[in-house]
Amino acid sequence: MARTRRPLIAGNWKMNGLAGDGVALARDVASGARQAGWTDRDLLVCPPATLVAAVVEAVKGSGVLVGGQNCHAKANGAHTGDIAAEMLKDAGATYVIVGHSERRADCGETDAVVRAKAEAAWRAGLLPIVCIGETLAEREAGKTLSVLEAQLKGSVPAGATASTLVVAYEPVWAIGTGKTPTTPEVAAAHAHIRKVLGGLLADADKVRLLYGGSVKGSNAAELLAAGDVDGALVGGASLKADEFLAIAKAA
Ligand code: 13P
Repeated sequence: MARTRRPLIAGNWKMNGLAGDGVALARDVASGARQAGWTDRDLLVCPPATLVAAVVEAVKGSGVLVGGQNCHAKANGAHTGDIAAEMLKDAGATYVIVGHSERRADCGETDAVVRAKAEAAWRAGLLPIVCIGETLAEREAGKTLSVLEAQLKGSVPAGATASTLVVAYEPVWAIGTGKTPTTPEVAAAHAHIRKVLGGLLADADKVRLLYGGSVKGSNAAELLAAGDVDGALVGGASLKADEFLAIAKAA
């Protein structure tokens, strides 16, 4: 059966990148994408907020998309140090990651906060990538699927559709550790996510579900071949253009 969901390979640079190396990385990704000439997949880079505008400029004409890593729920106001979805949009972003486990842990973001951020993304005309994932303790307690279900129900706003939502499954214990779930474990988590989404929106079969957590060039083909996996959310390996492009090639 032909693939109906367009693969999305997204790089989350996290708190990495200064004007020099960040713009050079974006240029290298853009030139690799241009050379490859892909028309059947999306590449996205999510640099730190300070570099969004410069990266948008650096990838211009290459088809590479640019996103933010977080946004506030409000459009403006007295929220020192925060960034509005409207500001990311204004800088040229088209996507925004919301609810990454690092923000859930570091900044105490709850499902309700994540949901408000996803709604803010819509308000600004951005496509939110809603992140969910279990901790090691939750996995070992056999709670993975119920944790994912609760996070989805709490974080996905009412009215979501396949064209206004991307979901990223990132097991917390797989992030930055070099450990990954097995392919059947990834497939089982994604199948459950799609089933739960089926109760929340009408076109759940078309929603893109990304896997994230220690994805690299050498394991991308296997992870991306798992059932219901439509792309990857890549951390460390997205900081090297060659690695990121190798993952995109595997999609
Ligand atoms: P790593 O690819 O470094 O494990 O990070 C994954 C991640 O958190 C992407 O959002």
